[in-house]
Amino acid sequence: MTRTSNPTRREFISNGLAASGALALGVSAAELGTAHAQRTRFRGGLDQGSERRGITGPGSLKAHASARGLLTGAAVEAQLLATNPSVEKIVVDQYSILVAENSMKMGPMRPTPDTFSFEAGDALVAFGDAHGIKVRGHNLCWHSQLPAWFNSVATKDNAHQLLVDHIRTVAGHFKGKLQSWDVVNEAVQISDGRPDGLRNGPWLKLLGPDFISLAFRTAREADPNVLLTYNDYGIETDHPDDVKKRAAVLQLVRDMKANNVPIDAVGIQSHIHAGWSTSDGNGLREFMRRIREMGLKIFVTEMDVNDDQIKSEDPADIDLAVAKTYREYLDLMMQEPALAVVITWGVTDAHTWLAGRRRPNQTQQPTPPQRPLPFDAQNQPKEAFYAMRQSFDSRSGVTLR
Ligand code: G3I
Repeated sequence: MTRTSNPTRREFISNGLAASGALALGVSAAELGTAHAQRTRFRGGLDQGSERRGITGPGSLKAHASARGLLTGAAVEAQLLATNPSVEKIVVDQYSILVAENSMKMGPMRPTPDTFSFEAGDALVAFGDAHGIKVRGHNLCWHSQLPAWFNSVATKDNAHQLLVDHIRTVAGHFKGKLQSWDVVNEAVQISDGRPDGLRNGPWLKLLGPDFISLAFRTAREADPNVLLTYNDYGIETDHPDDVKKRAAVLQLVRDMKANNVPIDAVGIQSHIHAGWSTSDGNGLREFMRRIREMGLKIFVTEMDVNDDQIKSEDPADIDLAVAKTYREYLDLMMQEPALAVVITWGVTDAHTWLAGRRRPNQTQQPTPPQRPLPFDAQNQPKEAFYAMRQSFDSRSGVTLR
């Protein structure tokens, strides 16, 4: 990928797409031969043939993941599982871990300062228990999705107790029931200009940087056995912004370890764009090595592949470009011995937070819905499903931690 001086993120991604296949840039089929020929060429990067056997049991994502020491899953809400039998079947067949997309965050969890709403989280945990599927918690402390009452109630005087009470009550309620918690989510924001790179969010404004260690220590007291995770995004490419953010996250984790703050894992959200390519992964590979050397696990916590840079509007082309990115990104991840979990942020394209993200096009007419996940809106496995499964298989030979 050609690097220009500090390209914008959009240029950076477009460069990636150019490196991964001109078709994705919408170069006309006529110019590149038939679209079919291009798709065939694209498919060349994705193994074909006998691997495309059944997708359940030994052919499921969780079977291929488990054979390589991994848990794999998706973000989903219990309500969707209860009302959509097709999605429920996919989840039961394919996944060994789930996470609530929203219902275990402080806002949904705390309708009033004095009440906690555990129903949705309890329903997801019960579903997991009934089907032998683990559940991870997301999240105990975040600058976003705070309760509507937060800004009118939280002060510098009561914020410490507010955070402790929230985490003690929520992590205590789910004690012994979760595989891990995202204890603090997205605390680094370089553009806020702090020397430590921390986000100048509500909790930092109220408590200073120590809110992070307070959150982790409180979570550990409330649930001694759950894996405590720091989770963040924008650390997946070699774009200068990501390079700076990775350095700040690494320093944050180093400082936590130096101060004996309990932490077990780093979550790499992995909201990436079609066109991410392995040549993008050098910094990420090094980042993960340094996290591993601190004795921590690594989770892919929220993966999806945003197709907003793909100008072709042919779903077959989009699915191939998305699948190629799943394959390239996860192949790099598979080589990391500390990797333990791979989760996509949603199950099917019908339920993605990316809905409505438009692709650039000359007409400014609405573009087709995003196609970022392993299953399409008709609950059918896409190229990305097979790419994930093949990528898990590529982990053989890695000495696991
Ligand atoms: O539940 C209410 C509903 O009652 C109301 O009618 C509706 C319209 O206002 O809003 C609904 O809440 C929405 C919620 O999703 C549930 O659908 C919120 O407005 C909306 O902001 C919220 O968006 C979520 C977003 O986090 C909030 O920042 C997305 O679904 C969720 O996928 C996204 O997930 C985040 C991770 O937690 C952290 N990492 C990034 C990731 C993507 O942004």
